[in-house]
Amino acid sequence: MFSSSVKARLLASGVLVLAALGGPAWAEPAPYLDPRPSVEDRVDDLLGRMSLDDKLGQMTQPERRFVTPEEITRYGIGSVLSSGGSAPSPNRAEKWADMYDGLQRAALAGPLRVPIMYGVDAVHGHNTVVGATIFPHNIGLGASRDADLVREIGAATAEEMAATGVDWDFAPCVCVVRNDRWGRTYESFGEVPALAARMTTAIEGLQGEELGGAASVLATAKHFVGDGGTEGGRDRGDAQISEKELRAVHLPPFRAAVARGVGSVMISYSSWNGQKMHRHRYLINDVLKGELGFTGIVVSDYKGIDRIDGRPGFTRDEVASAINAGIDVAMVPTEWRRFIRYLRDEVVGGRVPMSRIDDANRRILTKKFELGLFERPFADRAYLKTVGGAEHRELARRAVAESQVLLKNDADVLPLDDEDKIFVAGRSADDIGMQSGGWTITWQGEPGPITPGTTILDGVRKAADPSATVAYSRDGKGVDESYDAAIAVVGEKPYAEYHGDRTGGLGLDAEDLKTIDRLRGAGVPVIVVLVSGRPMDIAAQLPRWDALVAAWLPGTEGAGVADVLYGDADPTGRLPVTWMRDAGQQPINQGDGKKPLFPFGFGLTYDD
Ligand code: BGC
Repeated sequence: MFSSSVKARLLASGVLVLAALGGPAWAEPAPYLDPRPSVEDRVDDLLGRMSLDDKLGQMTQPERRFVTPEEITRYGIGSVLSSGGSAPSPNRAEKWADMYDGLQRAALAGPLRVPIMYGVDAVHGHNTVVGATIFPHNIGLGASRDADLVREIGAATAEEMAATGVDWDFAPCVCVVRNDRWGRTYESFGEVPALAARMTTAIEGLQGEELGGAASVLATAKHFVGDGGTEGGRDRGDAQISEKELRAVHLPPFRAAVARGVGSVMISYSSWNGQKMHRHRYLINDVLKGELGFTGIVVSDYKGIDRIDGRPGFTRDEVASAINAGIDVAMVPTEWRRFIRYLRDEVVGGRVPMSRIDDANRRILTKKFELGLFERPFADRAYLKTVGGAEHRELARRAVAESQVLLKNDADVLPLDDEDKIFVAGRSADDIGMQSGGWTITWQGEPGPITPGTTILDGVRKAADPSATVAYSRDGKGVDESYDAAIAVVGEKPYAEYHGDRTGGLGLDAEDLKTIDRLRGAGVPVIVVLVSGRPMDIAAQLPRWDALVAAWLPGTEGAGVADVLYGDADPTGRLPVTWMRDAGQQPINQGDGKKPLFPFGFGLTYDD
């Protein structure tokens, strides 16, 4: 039709590329590629051009290690995820951007040019990326009671994500923790629904005023619903509670998240009275999409569909029941080809209606258009300078300070004077990995200098007057009576979901107790700073401690802890959970009549 030189010119100008995308005339781009029509019209136009296979591809989310760029093009894959700790090598923000752009180019090479979305668990900052700012985990943010701060953290996280291209955040977790044995206690803003509901400002921070603005990523409220209410605090367990309680305690944060326009909702691995959430049509379809009016994407959890029948690997029946229940995107990290095959069989066999597939695609494509991915599909490297940048670290430091809860302060041992001679000890004192907890660089987290940051010890050294002595030994050896006070920074080793469930005692371990004993042996006032993802069983030791600060899991900016210890910031944090008197009291929550060590909402100030 065209001479080769005309063709070359048209190709260069992009006209032929657009025509090749199914536009009716060579000069007319397909309407869905034109940014001017409404999102609804663009979705309609695109849907009309998609085959069943195109639609199944959009609903499929493999893990980055188990899919190639070529497969993304061939299967029209809709989204890809990095599971906890799954990072390009070397693990640097630029490398993430390269990886994302490479996969995006593969998606755009498909005949319909539909961009992918890329999801990660940026649950306290863009936490899988070395060098990113790591903010306090949600439990600490719950202690701050500061919803505006949480919004700001969401916006900062979105900027660091935008730098790497990653446009879908599997956060915030709006779970309401009812039993602190649960290994995800620290992912919760607290034990009362109002707290998690209030902190859905995180969504506004991540998404911006509306999707598609500068540094706007899709937020996910998770895990729908009742994940924090399982028997024994067992991860992926069974919430054996009435519908009244489910609605009163666990549903409100989702209602708030939907009201704030959250783009996606992730389904919980857990069950409600024996029925797996991943096939719960009443709760997903009727309550979430119907009653709450959620119009965004429902995404499964990682291999969540596989586990519906309690056995690994999914069956046709599991696929059909999950999709019919209302799941739009299946997080099928490894077995995604089988998922596509099974879902196609179920559609062709009439067991999953085509209207359900179209509804899922409408939801997915709407978010992609709203995010502006068709117009701006690649990483926005202008934001690279914000990754771990000074402004974000300053914000994180403020968040750390606001999240400290002062639980005991005999004889006003705190705040310290910057000229005091101080001894610091404990295995969490000088360790970024310990103070950051799980979901930091790796899935479960680990001790050690895993990413740049300021340890609590660094913070203490900076807060003290340059002339003042700040001595440190991890195990407390070397302390003597010449010190004005000793600080023991102790608590829990990093853990994440599942592995972090604690069915036995909830006390400090032998090493930490020994460290504290050494400090006590010197006869100086002992200040315990507890770095943990949940309240710990400490009632038996507490009378021998002069001061106690719950620091939660502060992240990379340990100076925020020192700010409170030295009185540069006032302690304003309040307990977001009830603090047990002993582990046998779990579950213990506000209003249940049990006598706690410290009630929900407790927190001293320096004026008390
Ligand atoms: C967790 C989710 C997470 C997903 C993807 C699952 O194991 O339960 O919270 O979003 O993995 O990493």
